Amino acid sequence: MNRHQTVIVLDFGAQYSQLIARSVREQHVYCEIMPYSVSPDKLREVNPAAIILSGGPASINDEDAPLCDPGIYELGVPVLGICYGMQQLGFNEKARIKRAGKREYGKAMLNISDYSNLFAGFESEPEIQVWMSHGDSVDELPRGYHLLAATENCPVAAIGNDERQLYGVQFHPEVVHTPLGSRVIANFLFKVANLTPDWTPGSFIDENVEKVREQSAGGKVICGLSGGVDSSVAAMLVHKAIGDKLTCIFVDNGLLRKNEAASVENTFRNNHQLNLIVIDAADRFIDALAGVIDPERKRKIIGETFIRVFEDEARKLGDVKWLVQGTLYPDVIESVSVKGPSAVIKSHHNVGGLPEDMELKLIEPLRELFKDEVREVGRKLGLAGEIVSRHPFPGPGLGVRVLGEITRERLAVLREADDIFISEIRAAGLYDEIWQAFAVLLPVQTVGVMGDERTYDNVIALRAVTSRDGMTADWYRMPQEVQAQISNRIINEVEGVNRVAYDISSKPPATIEWE
Ligand code: XMP
Repeated sequence: MNRHQTVIVLDFGAQYSQLIARSVREQHVYCEIMPYSVSPDKLREVNPAAIILSGGPASINDEDAPLCDPGIYELGVPVLGICYGMQQLGFNEKARIKRAGKREYGKAMLNISDYSNLFAGFESEPEIQVWMSHGDSVDELPRGYHLLAATENCPVAAIGNDERQLYGVQFHPEVVHTPLGSRVIANFLFKVANLTPDWTPGSFIDENVEKVREQSAGGKVICGLSGGVDSSVAAMLVHKAIGDKLTCIFVDNGLLRKNEAASVENTFRNNHQLNLIVIDAADRFIDALAGVIDPERKRKIIGETFIRVFEDEARKLGDVKWLVQGTLYPDVIESVSVKGPSAVIKSHHNVGGLPEDMELKLIEPLRELFKDEVREVGRKLGLAGEIVSRHPFPGPGLGVRVLGEITRERLAVLREADDIFISEIRAAGLYDEIWQAFAVLLPVQTVGVMGDERTYDNVIALRAVTSRDGMTADWYRMPQEVQAQISNRIINEVEGVNRVAYDISSKPPATIEWE
């Protein structure tokens, strides 16, 4: 059982469930997500200190609407229903739920009429901006409840039953468009549920250092270090716990960015004094990829080769019992999909699919964390700033950014162009505004003119996106003078490139990577 008071978000298939959990954790209260269908008995085992019912895409009046077990209200635990979650609460409390005439979507002004509990401290803000996204609404107050707030279109926008500590808000306090939303959540946690904010990066590190020590029990541990944020933070944490019992293996697969292998080696071996083995396996990977153009086959080959290389090294070390993986919380949440599971779009998003015959047991010290929390833990562990704030980089690396056939020559062209792109956005101070930026080498040649000569050369596409979690993304509006500088430098300095294009597609329907 968790050592901290835990808030459970019951997920009704909302796109915002993870945001709710993060908003709670931002208040230094531990929070987990469970499917709406979890039984009160199971919840009792988790012993939540409070429950939040998420929003969701369904209509509560539909025959197949997702419904939670009303037994959860009898656990004696404070409950906050958000959007669909409030309708769920209203439905369970026998209120009439009005079917939508039309959806209300967007900003609204909330008039607060009760300043105790949820809206405590809002006296100087009788009206606040909130974000609405709903069709149905609770049409009348359930018995025992009183009205806390209303909007013009939604006369019952927040309700509460102080005696039973059950609350509902029709708006979304977890999104940025509700600027004071975090105060509403804080009020629920601290005024209503009386929780203690004791879940911090520091406490996380202390507890997990101890856990790793206990778990590994003096055995040898290995970690596949990629230099990305997740594996780096996982390695640092385990190193703090068991020092030289940990050996990190960094595989140079020949698909890395310019100077990447050397810089990872320097950071971890010299600055952080980790036990590090660097394997130059570039030939093995590039030979295995010869002639392959299908992106999914590339991923498969890269993943399998990685495993084989890793396995060979692990065997050489002998007597290894444990393997560290940088699994994050979004990978372990049991996802709720009201309309069926979403299709697998790209396979193999986590290189590290383990060979079963290695019989290594897993240490996954980041299983409880979201990406931004991993970064915070990394900072607290003293991990080099350039690693903590690094853009994500896919396991298959430049293998899925050289579109079409991968050759050493094409990799070299891409590496140079990518390096210029990233250096220039760093120099312009834009790197940290961008979720991910990279260059892509297209499998076409275009005509150009250089001096008096006609050229027939490569095209580089530049991709820069903003995102919160990589699930959706918008293309980054980069200042034109920065684009101009990047394009000039790439065309002038990278031999074999005569054209640069900037990708202006959002995800969906495009993806972040091109393959
Ligand atoms: P997409 O292209 O699906 O990417 O919008 C979303 C995020 O996932 C990364 N990505 C991968 N990461 N192995 C990985 O480890 C992969 O095969 C892979 N494909 C995409 C991508 O860089 C982005 O951050």
